[in-house]
Amino acid sequence: MNGYRIAVVGATGAVGREVLRILDERRFPIAELRLLASSRSAGRRIDGRAVLAVAPERFDGLDLAIFDTPDAVAEEWVPVAAARGVIAIDNSAAFRMAEGVPLVIPEVNADALAHLPRRIVANPNCTAATIAVPLAALHREAGLRRVIACSYQSVSGAGQQGTEQLWNELRETVANSRPPERPRGHAFKHPIAMNLIPAIGSLRGAHTSEEVKVAAELRKMLGVPDLAVGMTCVRVPTLVAHGVAVHAEFAQTLDPQHARRILERAPGVTVVDEPSSAQYPTPLRAAGTDPCYVGRIRTDEAGNLAFFAVADNLRKGAALNAVQIAEHLIQRGLVRSGARA
Ligand SMILES: NC(=O)c1ccc[n+]([C@@H]2O[C@H](COP(=O)([O-])OP(=O)(O)OC[C@H]3O[C@@H](n4cnc5c(N)ncnc54)[C@H](OP(=O)(O)O)[C@@H]3O)[C@@H](O)[C@H]2O)c1
Repeated sequence: MNGYRIAVVGATGAVGREVLRILDERRFPIAELRLLASSRSAGRRIDGRAVLAVAPERFDGLDLAIFDTPDAVAEEWVPVAAARGVIAIDNSAAFRMAEGVPLVIPEVNADALAHLPRRIVANPNCTAATIAVPLAALHREAGLRRVIACSYQSVSGAGQQGTEQLWNELRETVANSRPPERPRGHAFKHPIAMNLIPAIGSLRGAHTSEEVKVAAELRKMLGVPDLAVGMTCVRVPTLVAHGVAVHAEFAQTLDPQHARRILERAPGVTVVDEPSSAQYPTPLRAAGTDPCYVGRIRTDEAGNLAFFAVADNLRKGAALNAVQIAEHLIQRGLVRSGARA
């Protein structure tokens, strides 16, 4: 059969399930699809396919493996897959900043795929992806110097446990006409229903791990090692799609009209920017779709270019980008396809 032999590792999770949907939607050429997860899920079925527990021999004979697991699981299993000749595309943070591992958004830095010494490609953090796509287009024209941004991140960014916690708390809120006093799940340390949590990930000094990741990943993908980034990452009670308010300073003057023209022709970006008729990006609009939406494009009072960007964290922020990386690797002839021989 024509096509590629693929594993989705973490196939039972929020991102893994989205990868399966996207492979199907985009008619990805598949000769064999293996669904892998932990031993807890072994024997479960997804769309008629059995889920297998991850093990070294599960990677034998594969061309590609898309990893959608926690960092520690990727740290253990991505090198196992790569050592068996498989190209691993990893959605976790385990290898994003590693030497010899390109961190790729095809619309931003597809050329980085040409050099794969470790047979590993990393997929960026979902908030970094939401703003890197529009910022890369603006950076190419005007030279990005400084970014101040605040994120509004949906609960699905914390995986299935995040979504479950919000639903549990919403049901209780409706039943009691007030939000619960304690969290009703393990994803967040506070109730998230009717709330905001201004800390995502673990503390890194005065910052959070999410804030540190977004800054470092923007620098790596945009190829601007001295880019100054000021991030605040906030969890909000939306289900899917992260919003980010961005204020950016460029080396060259960039007025809103010019920025809008650049963004309108930027691949992967959809401009929705008619505030007078209440047209701007929202999470409900972005959820389940592919683009990075950008609106509220303006110059702020400090002279920065300001905009609001929203993208589906499970799609462009994770699963879609991983599948697009796989498509680019195939177009460039970088994936072995044993099943075609
Ligand atoms: N959610 C997002 O918006 C998003 C965006 C970008 C990147 N990411 C990253 O993508 C990865 C997956 O996130 P998610 O949101 O999909 O998480 P999730 O819903 O919690 O799913 C985690 C997946 O990993 C599997 N897994 C856990 N422990 C395992 C083990 N020991 N061996 C094999 N498989 C194991 C789980 O399998 P079981 O069902 O068997 O436990 C499940 O399939 C994480 O690194 C996350 O940071 C997430």
